[in-house]
Amino acid sequence: MEFQYLTLEDFDLHDRSVLLRLDINAPLDPSNNQLLDDGRIKAAKPTLDALTEARVAILSHQSRPGRVDFTSLRRHAAELQRTCSQRVTFIDDVMGPAARNAVKELRKGEVVVLDNVRFCAEEMLEEKEEKLAKTNLVKRLAPLFDLYVNDAFATSHRAQASLVGFPQVLPAAAGRLMEKELSAIEKLMVNPAHPSTYLLGGAKVEDKVPVIENILATRKADHILVGGNVAKVFLKAMDTRLGELDEEDLGDITDEVLKANRILSKYPGRIILPSDFGTVKKGKRIDTPIKRLARSGRALDIGPKTTDRFTELINESKTVVAAGPMGVFEEDGFESGTKAVLQSMAEATAFTVVGGGHMAGYAGILGISQRLSHISTAGGAMLSMLAGEELPAITALVAAAKRHKRRPSREF
Ligand code: 3PG
Ligand code: MG
Repeated sequence: MEFQYLTLEDFDLHDRSVLLRLDINAPLDPSNNQLLDDGRIKAAKPTLDALTEARVAILSHQSRPGRVDFTSLRRHAAELQRTCSQRVTFIDDVMGPAARNAVKELRKGEVVVLDNVRFCAEEMLEEKEEKLAKTNLVKRLAPLFDLYVNDAFATSHRAQASLVGFPQVLPAAAGRLMEKELSAIEKLMVNPAHPSTYLLGGAKVEDKVPVIENILATRKADHILVGGNVAKVFLKAMDTRLGELDEEDLGDITDEVLKANRILSKYPGRIILPSDFGTVKKGKRIDTPIKRLARSGRALDIGPKTTDRFTELINESKTVVAAGPMGVFEEDGFESGTKAVLQSMAEATAFTVVGGGHMAGYAGILGISQRLSHISTAGGAMLSMLAGEELPAITALVAAAKRHKRRPSREF
């Protein structure tokens, strides 16, 4: 599998007008809306460095309508200014006259950040590709640009206008981050070195449980080690009773438990479950074997026996992928499981990939980012791709490349 898309090398960028779709969606501090993690902003630097001769307008989103962190991109723009060498301005408009004038007035080497693209309601309608090319967003902005660049790998699982609409009407290239992400994932998809071990944890069980079956069926992973709430879903599938508070926290997971049940019987021995957890009692950590979970407080980390088993399996592996923490590592005393697996990944000689904002951020805090083979800016998009799903934004880039090869002179 190799994606046939165009890259920045395929285009003359000198004094060209470029629409750059980034994913600089960041966790925000709820008290003051300050950015808590600038990892995705820093990850945009290689592409911005390649565009210093161009006139660049950036399009991105922050969160989704209805959430408290659904804000403007003003702070992100200020952060981008610290990261890149170009002069960066911000305009609090996405596609109205103010935004369009700001784009028209751009000079070579300048960057303007347009406001949160999800402020336009039509960006949230996941639609068929032809419709996305006819949205107001695309109709109003596309005529102002020579080239569309997609560097938003972390949003490429969404069929939205800013991702799928523009590459239908403009020449389109993948940015540097997109190239890096896709080549790391290609290594995982095509002949991964075995034994291959995946660690899946964290909270979003509805995203993670459905991808497990495909990952096992296609032998991308020999074993999947589960932690966090993902582990709790599998324990429920085996009729293990959890503590009352954990049961409450999980909410309705009927579908996930059914899927987990099927996975356990279809792929015996390939899901490795925790045998103990770090649970809370009166604010203190108590390491608790599975059989005593029903009478324990919340399980916030994998226990020491599980941690030893997981790190042993990591050490024996040639490929290791981790998405989602083993527990609530932000809580004092409950970081040891997540920390140990990340540290063994850093020490391993295997090809190691960490995905998802929480794990990536924590690897940074532990100072081990440089010792991992690849840190993905994506969570959901990476997992969808590993599960063999088609990513609409990538499909759109590939289609744009085919079109361009047929008619290159007309377009550039
Ligand atoms: C993410 O952080 O997961 C991406 O930015 C995509 O955001 P979404 O899940 O709200 O589409
Ligand atoms: Mg997401």
